[in-house]
Order: sequence, then C-alpha cells, then structure tokens
Amino acid sequence: MYFGITFSPLNVESFIRSLWSSNSIHKRCHRLCCHLQVDFWRPHSEDQVTIGSVVDIQIPARYLNLVYTTLDQSAMEYEIFIEDVQSAVDGQADSGASPRAHSYTKYNTWSEIEAWIDSTASANPTLVSKQVIGNTFEGRPLILLKIGKSSTSTKPAIFMDCGFHAREWIAPAFCQWFVKEAVETYGSDTEMTSLLNDMDVYVMPVFNVDGYVFSHTNNRMWRKTRSKISGTSCIGTDPNRNFDAGWCTIGASSDPCSDTFCGKTPESEIETKTVADFIRRNKSTIKAYITVHSYSQLLLFPYSYTFNLAAHHSELLTVAQGASAALTSLYGTRYTSGPGAATIYPAAGGSDDWAYDLGIKYSYTFELRDTGFYGFLLPESQIKPTCEETMLAVKYIATHVKNNL
Ligand code: ARG
Ligand code: ZN
Repeated sequence: MYFGITFSPLNVESFIRSLWSSNSIHKRCHRLCCHLQVDFWRPHSEDQVTIGSVVDIQIPARYLNLVYTTLDQSAMEYEIFIEDVQSAVDGQADSGASPRAHSYTKYNTWSEIEAWIDSTASANPTLVSKQVIGNTFEGRPLILLKIGKSSTSTKPAIFMDCGFHAREWIAPAFCQWFVKEAVETYGSDTEMTSLLNDMDVYVMPVFNVDGYVFSHTNNRMWRKTRSKISGTSCIGTDPNRNFDAGWCTIGASSDPCSDTFCGKTPESEIETKTVADFIRRNKSTIKAYITVHSYSQLLLFPYSYTFNLAAHHSELLTVAQGASAALTSLYGTRYTSGPGAATIYPAAGGSDDWAYDLGIKYSYTFELRDTGFYGFLLPESQIKPTCEETMLAVKYIATHVKNNL
C-alpha cells in the first residue's frame, strides 16, 4: 500500500498523490476528508474512491502532521507532487503589469475573455457571431460564438463548451484557442475550411462564468457554480451532475456542501438550464456535443450514469481512438478513451450523457492535460502544446461528424 505526503512549512498547503488500497479504505478516507478537511482533486469526492484508486488530494498545512500519522498507521504509500500549493497558485498569477491584455498562451480572466469575444466577433464578421443565450446566477452573460461561413440555409452544427468546472483553467484556454485557429486557418487549412463551409461550430468559451471568476478572485480550487441554496450556507452545484441524465443516482451527492452536489433538481442551475434549452431548441441541427474539462488525459463518451454500453458504442470508441491517436501524434501525449463509467468513474447528471440521450450521437468529454503532476495548476507554458494537440483530436471528431451527416 502506498500513499504520499510531504513536508510543508506553516500556512502552505501540500498536494499529495496517493494510492489507496486498503479494505477499510472508506473508513480511513472518511477520517481524512471529514476530520482533516482534505480537498479531493481526483476523484472529486471521497465516495468515488475505490480500492486501488489513484487519489490526488490537497491538505491544509495545519493538518499535515495528523495526515502523516494517519497514513503511516494505515501503511499507505504516497508521493508528493506539489509541496507548496500556495506558491504554485501564486506562480500562476499575472505578473501585475496593467492593464492586462488577452493572450492565447495565458489564463485570461473573465473580463479579458469578454473583451476578446467582442473583438473577435467584430474583426471576423463573416465567420464569427456572438450570441448571449442567458445570464448566470450572478448576472453575467452566458455567451456563445457561432463560427462558420454564413449561409442562407440552416447548417448542421457542433456544440462545444469549456469551463464547466471553475478550476479547470486549461479548458476555457482551449475554447479560445479553437476560435483563434478557426479564424486564422479558414481559407488555408483544407480541413478547417471544409468544416466551416459545411457546418457551424457553437463555442461556449466559459460555461460556469461565476465559478471561473471566483477561482480567479477568491479560491483557485473552486469547482462548482456560485448559486445560493436555501437551507444551507454552502454555495454552488456541480453543473456536471445537474443535467437530467440518471440525475443524482450515482457518483453525485445530495449534500449541498459536497463538491459533487447534484443540485436541488435537474437543471436547477440557470447555467445548466440555459445551455440545455439552447441545445433542445437546436436539437435538429446539432450533430455533435463536445465538453472540455481537465485533468487526466481522457476522451470519454456515454455512458457515465450506467455501465451499460451506449447503442453506438463501437462507433464512438473507434472515433475516440482515432482522435486520441491524432492528438498523440504531435507530442506523444497519451490519452485513454472509453465510456465514462468504466474509464473514470460512474457519475450521473453529466452533460455528455444528457446530450446523447437527447439524440446527439457524437457526444464527447475531454479531460485535458495533465495526469496529476500539476493537476489543475497546469503551467501557462503548457497551454500552447496542450491546445495544439487537442485541436487535432477535435478536428478529427468534427471531420468524422461532417463525413457522416
Ligand atoms: N471529471 C468529469 C466530471 O466529474 C468527468 C465527466 C464524465 N462524464 C460524466 N457524465 N460523468 O464531471
Ligand atoms: Zn471538470
């Protein structure tokens, strides 16, 4: 058995990767989470830890000694990935030069992204249009960019969103990169040109805008939305447990204080409802749904709410494997593909399963870099290679969809 932990000075937090392999795992796990306030990075809550799981956790400095003791008594082995999470977070902050400008190789703030959306749409009027489809809980706009050669008839479309989970900063960075590549390579890259001639791509750069803002201003490790729930002081719902797909039956929590809280009802979150309404309204044109998360280097497809295989399992798998191979061809980054339940963990209420059951056959969830070395704190120097390789996978899926309309 092993589990890992490090040494850390006061007031810093340590990040630990562990392999839990005891049969009293849940008891031990419970003690670690509840009494010691461990923050789970992977999986997202203690209920998803099973024997043999690889577990990434973050531990408050004041509990380090207690955690050492617990781990030693349990004879769990461990390895320290980030010794001082606070300085890793601080290292990601902008150097302070103001005013800040948008950059594709930086983690942009929401206000930078908003300004970038407007300038991109106005600079590319024939290819890009902006659409506000609603507002977040805190009143920020929920924005889509529709990308494609304008046409008098309705074109088939692909819907892609990024930033369901606030702390997964590489995801919105990828949606911005995708838009950049689309406008820069339309007309020169044959694959992009024919894709945007024949189809539209709806890109939602940030789904969980309130959470994203909060992860910049208050808590870098925030995951959920920022909605208030009656009867508790805990804030937010996990938007990827809030869709109406086996809602809250497995791998989700009904405890509002949990990081995987499924919400009061399916689509209780305004962000979920707004996107679900948009997709339902455009159900006949949307041929593929892609949602971008991090981290773990996975390309997942339905189902996650059940271990049953999707009706189109073999095609979904073949396309995922082709997309992963395309991704790997650039820098050798290895991806695993498969149905969510068996590949990562069963978890109901996800947007991928919901879109699939609505009739959108090509439904994929990306979990971008890395596999836990930096986790959510992926350095900005990895934005470019991550986006470049992911482009190959997304274009592979898009081209398959286009060729099979
Ligand atoms: N890490 C993602 C999450 O927890 C995985 C999503 C896979 N799909 C799903 N429907 N659970 O949200
Ligand atoms: Zn996520």
